[in-house]
Amino acid sequence: MRVLGIETSCDETGVAIFDSEKGLLADALYSQVAMHSEYGGVVPELASRDHVRKLLPLIREVLAEAQLSLQDLDGVAFTAGPGLIGALMVGASTGRALAMGLGIPAIAVHHMEGHLLAPMLEENPPSFPFVALLVSGGHTQLVKVEGIGEYELLGESLDDAAGEAFDKAAKMLGLDYPGGPLIARLAEKGDRSRFRFPRPMTDRPGLEFSFSGLKTFTLNTANSHRDDQGQIDEQTMADIAAAFEDAVVDTLAIKCRRALQQTGLKQLIIAGGVSANRHLRLKLEAAVKKEGAELYYARAKFCTDNGAMIAYAGCQRLLAGQMSDLTILAKPRWPMETLEPLSQES
Ligand code: KG4
Ligand code: ZN
Repeated sequence: MRVLGIETSCDETGVAIFDSEKGLLADALYSQVAMHSEYGGVVPELASRDHVRKLLPLIREVLAEAQLSLQDLDGVAFTAGPGLIGALMVGASTGRALAMGLGIPAIAVHHMEGHLLAPMLEENPPSFPFVALLVSGGHTQLVKVEGIGEYELLGESLDDAAGEAFDKAAKMLGLDYPGGPLIARLAEKGDRSRFRFPRPMTDRPGLEFSFSGLKTFTLNTANSHRDDQGQIDEQTMADIAAAFEDAVVDTLAIKCRRALQQTGLKQLIIAGGVSANRHLRLKLEAAVKKEGAELYYARAKFCTDNGAMIAYAGCQRLLAGQMSDLTILAKPRWPMETLEPLSQES
């Protein structure tokens, strides 16, 4: 089965074609980052308009790359939520209409399920059950995954998501949006022992997270090192970035070990934009080893938003006989635990 995947939940237009027998045939992405960085964050109306401009050209591009025509498709998968309502509507209405015109099934895909399944696109994929750490701009969750659509929330952030914390800390240091990759780059030059930021909520049991306090810590540290012109020297910037990154990464690693211990599972997958972070991958590699477990993640371009993960997730659900009706579905809020398991559908 060949499935076209469409992702437009936020500021990336992603399109891909996944073939259940041959794997990923083509993928294309247009990032709106440059447009939004001028405003320091995503401007929803601009995002929707840009998806309208880029979506059809990207669909043509992946078809050409896969040397296929629209008639060769067997299904269309589109992100239906969670995300920005206007942005979601672009992908959902285009995907739904395309499937109707072609007389093929369409499936509404949950964005975080897409992220969660992205490591399945790699050569040595994990097998169910496993623990998933979902770390993106909007979510930080630990989930016990028994199968597709069988999700038990083990813990989540009580305030900022990990990616959001990276972005806000970056803003305080005067860096552009999105700040995660910029903090990571800066941190590589930092002295990790100069400042020590707290590891929030690690001194008590449980799998909940809280990252909002780290912002205050970042701001106070930055402010106490400004010169008369309000500038911070380059090395201090790098040292603060390193301290911030260490605090987030250590906190995530401590909770991941706990989740493995609590569930007795031996596989951990990390997914979502922050899972592209190299320091996180290294730290988690060591942490899971101590639990006798394995770590899995997608290649960096499939950690952040992309169409391939949506094509893959949609293909699995379509193969199981699931499909969405003609309603154009866009759900800005959509708890992942409410998704249907794959096995119970006719
Ligand atoms: O999954 P994603 O592309 O979009 C959402 O679903 O939110 O995640 C974007 C988030 C942003 O907050 C971005 O700063 C963060 O992922 N991010 C990173 C890195 N690359 C992306 N954070 C830390 N280190 C990175 N290398
Ligand atoms: Zn995402």
